[in-house]
Amino acid sequence: MQDILEQLNQKREAARMGGGQRRIDAQHAKGKLTARERLDVLLDADSFEEWDMFVEHNCHDFGMEQEHIPGDGVIIGRGTINGRLVFVFSQDFTVYGGSLSEAHAGKICKLMDQAMKVGAPVIGINDSGGARIQEGVASLAGYAEVFQRNVMASGVIPQISAVMGPCAGGAVYSPAMTDFIAMVRDTSYMFVTGPEVVKTVTHEEVTQEELGGAGTHSSTSGVSDMAFDDDVDALRRIRDLVGFMPANNRLKPPRRHTDDPADRLEPSLDTIVPANANVPYDMHEVINKIADEGDFFEIQAEYAKNILTGFARMDGNPVGIVANQPAVLAGCLDINSSRKAARFVRFCDAFNIPIVTLVDVPGFLPGTAQEYGGIIKHGAKLLYAYAEATVPKITIITRKAYGGAYDVMASKHLRGDINYAWPTAEIAVMGPKGAVEIIFRQDKGDPEKIEQRTEEYRQKFANPFVAGAKGFIDDVIQPRSTRKRIIRDLAMLATKELQNPWKKHGNIPL
Ligand code: HXC
Repeated sequence: MQDILEQLNQKREAARMGGGQRRIDAQHAKGKLTARERLDVLLDADSFEEWDMFVEHNCHDFGMEQEHIPGDGVIIGRGTINGRLVFVFSQDFTVYGGSLSEAHAGKICKLMDQAMKVGAPVIGINDSGGARIQEGVASLAGYAEVFQRNVMASGVIPQISAVMGPCAGGAVYSPAMTDFIAMVRDTSYMFVTGPEVVKTVTHEEVTQEELGGAGTHSSTSGVSDMAFDDDVDALRRIRDLVGFMPANNRLKPPRRHTDDPADRLEPSLDTIVPANANVPYDMHEVINKIADEGDFFEIQAEYAKNILTGFARMDGNPVGIVANQPAVLAGCLDINSSRKAARFVRFCDAFNIPIVTLVDVPGFLPGTAQEYGGIIKHGAKLLYAYAEATVPKITIITRKAYGGAYDVMASKHLRGDINYAWPTAEIAVMGPKGAVEIIFRQDKGDPEKIEQRTEEYRQKFANPFVAGAKGFIDDVIQPRSTRKRIIRDLAMLATKELQNPWKKHGNIPL
């Protein structure tokens, strides 16, 4: 017995050392934590239970039969974050570069299957040289097995990816199918083909960081949802992120105690919208003032900044916030902002998170770049997402709600439950100047008449009362009372029931 226990301890120790001290030191020298250290930061202390520590690869080619490292380059198991169950895998770059073998993939699949059975999130930490080259197609098969599970789990359990090293080739498609991707500046990158291939094919010279670093993916491509300065920062924020989500799609998101009064009034909101409709203001301020403790967990903060998306709590209950940002591109909708917000709305809807929408939108961005890029299809994504969503939807029009964008932004007509306007709201087909230029074209040469017509139009439409008279707006509220009103409505909507007709799945304009 003593012998066996000793053997067990030796095996565990060997697994814990991964690829050995030299490679661990190399990992640290790059500013990265090891796979195990990352789990220590991510999970509650002493909560991690590891599985498959003794799994080894089954490759018999290229000398691999001589070499076996227990665990085979990925650590899997379960633990807790603030006491709530999560399943985790963490790729170990010190073991064959974290490359994915058949056995390594099998471990990830086992974990995902278990997470699906019990209904709890999967958090994957990616740090891998990709397919285990020595294993050939067995490794590709392993990836596809993981992909299939990513798709089956989508909308059932939250899936979060932390990319904390290389993630290249087809390997990028597993994180891409998860709900959120966090990256670390300077140490992580994602691309389908690396700089060398790019140079050969397109003759472009580009560094790894430029091609697929955290900066690129969080601001230019929108592939990543968050970028952090180091591993510890990223893992701590992922802990916060998980706190907004239910464990699975059958549960409500967890309430957290707050000392922020539910009936708190915020008088400064009464004057936040400038008198001149063309002067911008920062919608972040509105969000910070209505959310519990001013806390807003922004998603894709650096991408398509003309729309804001993220999580907050209202009286302790998580909500998803979508808000036009008048300070960027006047808050108009374009291709990127429509895609960004649509995906966020669908996440919230899949996981029973109510959506609060703040509207100040002059319309869709005009131009050939937008039309050639397919704004028609991309704008339709956001429209589709809102129209499909059955979670509680509360909308507040702070200023402009013009044209098709009025319809899209969780209007009453897309089953908005509660639609408010601030007194500064302007709800119309378009702004006064554009409208007059079209409907009074005959007066073009008479500036005085044009001015008079514009004023008439402004008087008629630059207010919330026409929409109010039709019941498209439930009430015109004092801005200061916005938080209080939303919280009361969320309480009323807690028992909301609404189902879409049965279908295999819809056909969102992709
Ligand atoms: C087996 C690998 C490996 C791999 C790295 N290693 N990648 N072993 N299969 N894919 C091993 C190295 O041999 C080395 O072993 C150790 O991991 C660390 O690698 P280094 O090259 O020393 O590290 P670094 O300089 O940091 O470079 C990291 C790297 C590079 C950029 C990831 O290793 C690399 O380019 N690897 C190959 C990437 C690749 O082409 N993968 C296949 C992509 S195709 P020792 O023993 O020296 O420590 C793919 C298809 C997926 O993934 C398709 C899914 C559909």
